Order: sequence, then structure tokens, then C-alpha cells
Amino acid sequence: MGVAISDWRLAQTVSKLGQLGVVSGVALEVVMVRRLQDGDIGGHVRRALDAFPFRDMAARTVEKYFVPGGKAENKPYKAIPIHKMVGAKKLHELCILGNFVEVFLAREGHDNPVGINYLEKIQLPHLPSIYGAMLAGVSYVIMGAGIPTMIPGVLDGLARHEAVSYGINVSGSKPGDDTLTRFDPQNFMEGDHAPLDRPRFLPIIASNVLAVTMLRRSNGTVDGFVIEGPTAGGHNAPPRGALQVNESDESVYGEKDVVNLSKIRDLELPFWVAGGSASAERLREVLEAGGAGIQVGTAFALCDESGLAEEYKRGLLGEAVAGTARVVTDRHASPTGFPFKVAQLDGSFSDETTYLSRTRVCDLGYLREVYRKDDGKLGYRCASEPIANFVAKGGIEADTIGRKCICNALMTNAGHPQIQRDGAVEKALLTAGDDLAEIARFIPDGQTSYTAKDVIDTLLSIES
Ligand SMILES: Cc1cc2nc3c(=O)[nH]c(=O)nc-3n(C[C@H](O)[C@H](O)[C@H](O)COP(=O)(O)O)c2cc1C
Repeated sequence: MGVAISDWRLAQTVSKLGQLGVVSGVALEVVMVRRLQDGDIGGHVRRALDAFPFRDMAARTVEKYFVPGGKAENKPYKAIPIHKMVGAKKLHELCILGNFVEVFLAREGHDNPVGINYLEKIQLPHLPSIYGAMLAGVSYVIMGAGIPTMIPGVLDGLARHEAVSYGINVSGSKPGDDTLTRFDPQNFMEGDHAPLDRPRFLPIIASNVLAVTMLRRSNGTVDGFVIEGPTAGGHNAPPRGALQVNESDESVYGEKDVVNLSKIRDLELPFWVAGGSASAERLREVLEAGGAGIQVGTAFALCDESGLAEEYKRGLLGEAVAGTARVVTDRHASPTGFPFKVAQLDGSFSDETTYLSRTRVCDLGYLREVYRKDDGKLGYRCASEPIANFVAKGGIEADTIGRKCICNALMTNAGHPQIQRDGAVEKALLTAGDDLAEIARFIPDGQTSYTAKDVIDTLLSIES
């Protein structure tokens, strides 16, 4: 769960309890430099960087970003470069380090496996990010929101510290255009290093067709699937077939969106089912259908160990306990164009008026679309950047309506809000699955919150 909701602390707890803890791999370079600027409370980032094999790279990053005692609250965080087709070397260094730190910390103190999750749509950071996670010994790479057929080959190459490339979706590209982004570990390594373990790769899919496509078209081994339904938190796959919306303008899902598990079982690979699956009964059903288990998000997002900032955790739990929690499947909010589950919370950007009072700015740029200009050069645009800029870059004005700056909002959700030039503090935009309404079931009697162990104990309560 990005950004930094399934952070190292939550993943470590889950893995220590014998399940697969998965850290979010989204924007970890920003997360790391902001934690350092917040004073690196507990010294965790610096402890992980101390264990990083390329010593000079780690040292210059601490030197540049660590602020003892933390930056002043009203001072903006230092910006880092925005991803482009040919990435700045120092940005790639931060990706390697940020991913290393998160996985290293999640693995600390136990020998159980840890996974990492990326969104395929956020393509430009993939190569250095995955390399950093592999340097820290990640066991699973899990990827959704796209069709990641080139990732298996990338994992094979990076395990050998070899140069790798990844095909970028370039809007308006012509046959013969070079749309590959490239990364060579040799440009970053300090000294020789033994080959790395190749993590298992689990694409996240929402249809039987996509499962088969992944197996037929991938350039290497696919090790299993996560099958995610439309009740899940975060981004959802768009509904299949003709667009249908309800009276609240939400995407409506139907029969066509139900994945046939027996056909998945026929593929003879392990699979996990996600989306409204956080119950012992559902776990049993999935196991009986031949699955390896369930993937759970919302229940963990609101537990004590998650990286969601305390005020939002309290706010959403309070709504759930009061029976007023509401999650909207917003067709417009995400610049990816995918439906995005938005948990409604006063004072957050779920409120349209609050959002419209924000001055549009795109300064993190993770969801920018790469497009081909008339002269063949590449440009970058995001439907939530200032409208005039987006239109000047050939974007369609109608696409900007309702689009929100998820990049900045998600950093706020994790407790690292940017202070913009006009002094405005970026507000949160929370995501949760439909399960939010029922989440109070995990709170033990006499308490006001719950732990990851409470969730796992409940899920395993009738397993045997
Ligand atoms: C706060 C939050 C953030 C999420 N972020 C991501 C993400 O970055 N990438 C992803 O593949 N899935 C993401 N998800 C989906 C979860 O990984 C998981 O599949 C889903 O939450 C399972 O359904 P559930 O919420 O009903 O338990 C997110 C879910 C939540 C609640």
C-alpha cells in the first residue's frame, strides 16, 4: 500500500508473524529523503544506509539530506529531480537507496521473506528501484496497474548486475521510436558483488485474460498471481465492457469483472485473492478453490503499525466505528485514468471545494504521461498539473476535470506533507477499500485501535 502505508514497520511485523509482509515500492526515494529531513527519528534510515554495499553513495546521501533534529515545520522539503526517460544519475541513486532501506528494515530481526509492490503505471523509476530492493534481498516483486510483461526479464538481468531496459508507454509514439528506458548497475556499483537472488514475480491481475497474457507474453518466469477485485483499496482495474456509472458517478462493476478462479487454478501457479477478502471464511473459500491465500490491504492500513499518519488513522477509524465511513470509487481523481477508491474525510481532498482551493502544481511527477512532441522529442504531462500547461502540451482539457494531485496527497497521508511556495500545506487524499465500513470488527473489546496481530489472528481463526 503506497505511499509508505505498508512501510517497513508494518511489513516487518507481518513477516515476523509468519505471513508475507509487503512494503510499498512507490516513491521510496522521496520517502527516504523526507524521513532524513525529518531528523530520521530512531536512526532507522541511517542504520539501513550503514549496511548499504556502495558506501560512497550512501554517505553522500546522508550528507546531503539528513537534518539533525528535523527541518522546521514550516520549511519545505528539498526537491529531488523528477523522473524522465533518461534519468538523472543522482535520482537513480536515491531510488536504489530508498528501496534498499525499506526492504532492509522490513527484513531486520527475522528470516522470513519480504515482498515489494510497484504500480506498473509508474514506469520510469522501475529499474533502479527494483535493483535497490534486490540488493536488500527482497523475495517477491508484486506489480499491478498495468501489464508488466517485461519485469521477469528485468529481474533476471538485475540478479546478474547486468544492464536492463524497460518499455515505456509513450503517447503518440511512432513505429521505430526508441521508447526504452535503460539502467546499468555497473554505473553505480562500487567494486565487485556476487549475483543477487532473483525474487519471485507476482503480477496483480483482474481478469482471466490478463493472467493468460502475462504467461504468454512475458520475457521470463511469472511465479504466481494476485487476483484483485473492484472492492479493493487503492487503484482498481477499469470495469470491463461498456462504461456504466451509478447515480454518484462511480464506476459500476458487473459479472464480467469476476475472475473465474477455477480457470486460474488450471494455470497451475499459486494465487492469492485480494479485495474484501479479510475474513477467515473468505480465506478458507480461497484455499478450497486452490488458492495459496489472500492479500489484505484496508485492514492493515488502519492498524497501529501502518505508516498512515495518526490523525487520518483516527479519523477513518472514528468514521468506521460511528457507522459513517464512506468510500467512493472515483473515476476522475487519479491522473492514471484508473478508478481510485477515495475514503471520504472532512478536511481532506475528498472534499471537492477543499481540493479546488488548491493551486495546481505538479512537482513530484510520478503520474506524468510521457508523450511524443511533433518534433519527435519527448514531453511529460499530468492531468492534474495547471490546466493551461497541460493543454499547451497537447492534453485534453476535459481530462483535467476532477483530477487530483495524488502524488502530493499520498505523501501527506504518510506524514510528510510538502509546503508549497504560497505556504499552503498539501492536504491528504485517503484511499481504502469498501471493507473500511466494517473495519471496527478488528478492534478488541475495550480498546480504540487494533494491531496487525489482531488482524492476522482473526484471519487465521478457523483455518485448520
Ligand atoms: C491505503 C491503500 C493503498 C494501496 N496502495 C496500493 C499500491 O500502491 N499498489 C497496489 O498494487 N495496491 C495498492 N493497494 C491495494 C492493496 O495492495 C490490496 O490489494 C487491497 O487493499 C486488498 O483489498 P482490501 O483493501 O479489501 O483488503 C492499496 C490499498 C490501500 C487500502
